[in-house]
Amino acid sequence: MTQDELKRAVALTAYEYVETLLEDDTIIGVGTGSTTNFFIAELGKIKHRIGGTVASSDESARRLKELGIPVYDLNSAGPVAVYVDGADETNKHLQLIKGGGAALTREKIIAAVATEFVCIADESKMVGVLGKFPLPIEVIPMARSHVARQLVLLGGDPVYREGCITDNGNHILDLYNLEILDPRSLEQQINQITGVVCNGLFAIRGADRLILGTNSGVKTYLP
Ligand code: 5RP
Repeated sequence: MTQDELKRAVALTAYEYVETLLEDDTIIGVGTGSTTNFFIAELGKIKHRIGGTVASSDESARRLKELGIPVYDLNSAGPVAVYVDGADETNKHLQLIKGGGAALTREKIIAAVATEFVCIADESKMVGVLGKFPLPIEVIPMARSHVARQLVLLGGDPVYREGCITDNGNHILDLYNLEILDPRSLEQQINQITGVVCNGLFAIRGADRLILGTNSGVKTYLP
């Protein structure tokens, strides 16, 4: 199967799972990225049976609205029953690297609010140790150089993602060459650096369910 076929397959499985959770006015959190875009397409089928959605990026909100699916501000939405989103890397503990699409801060906020976080990914995202994919870090623009110097002290090589402005008006540093042996601790350490808005490690609040597309079928993992 091609990577897109695997992504479509996990999106369909996530859709079928979400359907089993539906109650009156269920609010669904929707992530960002090419895998999530397949899920958004599936959601169109049940748009009249859900309360609405909250989206982790302006781009996902646009796609949802295009299908006639209501998108709410998180502050005025009711409880978020489930959040479905992709990942750039996952380990077997369902700790993730996210933020390849620069939406990590809103993704982390919705993941924090949601009762359940369902990660959808193809098997290329499963790794033994996190860190081959450069870790995205959202920073306040004036703090970019300061944060970069602090990240060098942690042993990584930060690279400014040129031309990328997040939906929150901030910059992204991608941290290369770190073997992340203790993701929870690194997530906390990076959060302590003044000027960091958010980092793309989802370890303290990892996924609750991973739906992984493989060439031998779609597999579901729990932490
Ligand atoms: C966006 C993300 C995405 O979930 C991640 O980049 C995976 O994207 P894709 O499904 O296109 O591989 O974290 O900020």
